[in-house]
Amino acid sequence: MSVIEWKQEFKTGIPSIDYEHEHLIAVINDLADTISVDAPLDEIEFHLGEIYALIEAHFALEEKIMRDMKYLGYAEHKEDHDRLLDEIRDIMENVAKDGAFDYRVALGERVGTWFGLHFKTLDPKLHALIHGAGYR
Ligand SMILES: [Fe+2]
Ligand SMILES: [Fe+2]
Repeated sequence: MSVIEWKQEFKTGIPSIDYEHEHLIAVINDLADTISVDAPLDEIEFHLGEIYALIEAHFALEEKIMRDMKYLGYAEHKEDHDRLLDEIRDIMENVAKDGAFDYRVALGERVGTWFGLHFKTLDPKLHALIHGAGYR
């Protein structure tokens, strides 16, 4: 079962970006699927760490492009990325504090909601420019 369902409303209308986002969600789902909520704590922490690293890498790439382009919306966009990384760190802390904490539900709700909003607002603006500037 997927923790984050790919939704039509996630689409930015730019096929290569939609592919990247869809792939990101698929990898998160695969990682979350390999580990049940009652698995040993260190295994859950390891997988959450991988999810964090994956998302962080996607953001780092977008942020580098924004800096290279001297993108005016950089601060606002980066702030929103940082907000999601905070959320995931929060989930990791909850897992460490409370073994019964359902990280899958938290990922689905918090990360899923963030994706829905960010993919619909800040990413399309940026990616329209990236493509106009010839980045691929
Ligand atoms: Fe993105
Ligand atoms: Fe973004």
